[in-house]
Amino acid sequence: MSLNLATDPEPVFKLEGVRYVYNGRQPALDSINLEVKRGEQLALLGANGSGKSTLLKVLDGIYSPNGGKMRALGRDIAAVASGHDSFRFHREVGLVFQDPDVQLFSATVFDDVAFGPLQLGLPQVEVLARCEEALEMMEISHLARRAPFELSGGEKKRAAIASVLSLKPEVILLDEPTAALDPRTKWVLVNLIQKLGQAGKTIITATHELEIVPLIASRTIVIGENRQILADGPSHELLHDTDLLVRANLIHPQLHYLGHSTH
Ligand SMILES: Nc1ncnc2c1ncn2[C@@H]1O[C@H](COP(=O)(O)OP(=O)(O)OP(=O)(O)O)[C@@H](O)[C@H]1O
Ligand SMILES: [Mg+2]
Repeated sequence: MSLNLATDPEPVFKLEGVRYVYNGRQPALDSINLEVKRGEQLALLGANGSGKSTLLKVLDGIYSPNGGKMRALGRDIAAVASGHDSFRFHREVGLVFQDPDVQLFSATVFDDVAFGPLQLGLPQVEVLARCEEALEMMEISHLARRAPFELSGGEKKRAAIASVLSLKPEVILLDEPTAALDPRTKWVLVNLIQKLGQAGKTIITATHELEIVPLIASRTIVIGENRQILADGPSHELLHDTDLLVRANLIHPQLHYLGHSTH
């Protein structure tokens, strides 16, 4: 059965009381209740170790929850995580990992960007067109023939993003996509997320960069240091709630001067 995203009445993700524990002893997510509708753009905020990357991996079906219920794109997530249906699921959901070294494994950047479209069995011209488009979007066409290990940190990040864009997924999960990017590239990415959002894609971005949040997400989820959801609401409201931001360790009173960097 193929899934028609335009008519499917189910939310893209529905999590009820989801828990995730690494190796049976390291808790990473606790009692996560979250519903994401098609076409929403969300920001995921939280201190180091609060569970943002783990949540994105759970949403991507890489990890299966240890407790609670979860459905993704009309499927029970356990089926995706156990390998049944994984291929079809990953045509629709793409995750850009926090660490680009996890994403880049081919001999050249081009091969990494072409990997997904080739797996989809697309005709060669289509593969080429998608690669060119994705490389251009991330402004790395000139790096296509380079080996990923020869790139700078920011260039690797751009290549990793391009390798997901070439798949043209309906749902895009971005784990700190602007980390290590220079301001121009950061701006390119912010614009790209806006454009993809306007095109109806569902996008969830984990980030520590509060200044990009209102530009890329109308809704924000804050995960607290207890690994539970602390707040879920309109980005512009949450970003003005200084108490919440301090409590979630997203700003520090001694480092935060009402948005001004000088004191
Ligand atoms: N592979 C792993 N094995 C065991 N524990 C892990 C593993 N990955 C993460 N953890 C733990 O799970 C918790 C959540 O980690 P996670 O990487 O999801 O946090 P995060 O919010 O993405 O943090 P950051 O802002 O540093 O990227 C942390 O306590 C972390 O130490
Ligand atoms: Mg992380």
